[in-house]
Amino acid sequence: MAGIDFSSQSTIVTGASSGIGAAFARALATRGSDVILVARRLDRLRQLASELERDHGVRATPIALDLSRRDAGQTLAGEVAARGLAVTGLVNNAGFGTDGPFHEEDPDRLQDEIAVDVANLVDITRAFIEPLRQSGRGILVNVASMAAYAPGPDMAVYSACKAFVLSFTEALWYESRPSGLRVLSLAPGLTRTEFFDDLAGGAYHGSYQTPEEVVAAGLRSLDRGNRRPSVVSGRGNALATALPRFLTRRRTVLFSGTLGARSRDTVAATANR
Ligand SMILES: NC(=O)c1ccc[n+]([C@@H]2O[C@H](COP(=O)([O-])OP(=O)(O)OC[C@H]3O[C@@H](n4cnc5c(N)ncnc54)[C@H](OP(=O)(O)O)[C@@H]3O)[C@@H](O)[C@H]2O)c1
Repeated sequence: MAGIDFSSQSTIVTGASSGIGAAFARALATRGSDVILVARRLDRLRQLASELERDHGVRATPIALDLSRRDAGQTLAGEVAARGLAVTGLVNNAGFGTDGPFHEEDPDRLQDEIAVDVANLVDITRAFIEPLRQSGRGILVNVASMAAYAPGPDMAVYSACKAFVLSFTEALWYESRPSGLRVLSLAPGLTRTEFFDDLAGGAYHGSYQTPEEVVAAGLRSLDRGNRRPSVVSGRGNALATALPRFLTRRRTVLFSGTLGARSRDTVAATANR
């Protein structure tokens, strides 16, 4: 199976102002795709767009958008149409997490989390699914997480959001097969990005990948064809996500809770609850 020809394609990357999204934009531009860069921090997007246009000769279009607002799909579709851009691919990568005991979490922040990680991921996918299907040669990547594969005590909403992304994307993979669109849920494990800056748990212990390694795992899977609806980045991470298949639901959540507490700086606090 030949790898994807990204030349004369145009791919939206949400959350392109840092981390995995910026790495996706760089990798796609390196392979010849025009890119539409979406996030709130326009200065960062402009800087990245200039870099990609200079280094790879692609068209890179920054669009500032707050994905916690309603109707992000129609808003983004309007912005894209106003610039006369035709979209062949979409990487729904923007997202953030919250952690800590659910009863202590800020309700407004939880609403934003669900809006960015789930509601607008669906809305943006719905807004662009027709051109993606018609193009038939692009990609639809939804960035999930290892957290999608088990309930996450002290990350209850984030894990549930990512479980939604995994389930939603695998279903779209099936629906999209006749169209030629390659659909993938990409689950990073711990990855060295700004993701952890705002988490109450602070530092998480474990083996980190780089954003480039995560992106490479996703593109490698897509280049092999539309064989897999989902991939976990990193061999150890993939093994860990397979474990719940052999456990009861009870054992899975007990295991996940213990492992999560161990990987956070909150070990002492949670042990006392
Ligand atoms: N890092 C990890 O260990 C890890 C593990 C598993 C999954 N993931 C997932 O990977 C994806 C990328 O995260 P990352 O690790 O690269 O973290 P990151 O460096 O913090 O990047 C997050 C991106 O999402 C954008 N974003 C956040 N809130 C937004 C909003 N309201 N509107 C528009 N854009 C918004 C940010 O842009 P602005 O702030 O400029 O808006 C930024 O570009 C996320 O979906 C995350 O859940 C990360």
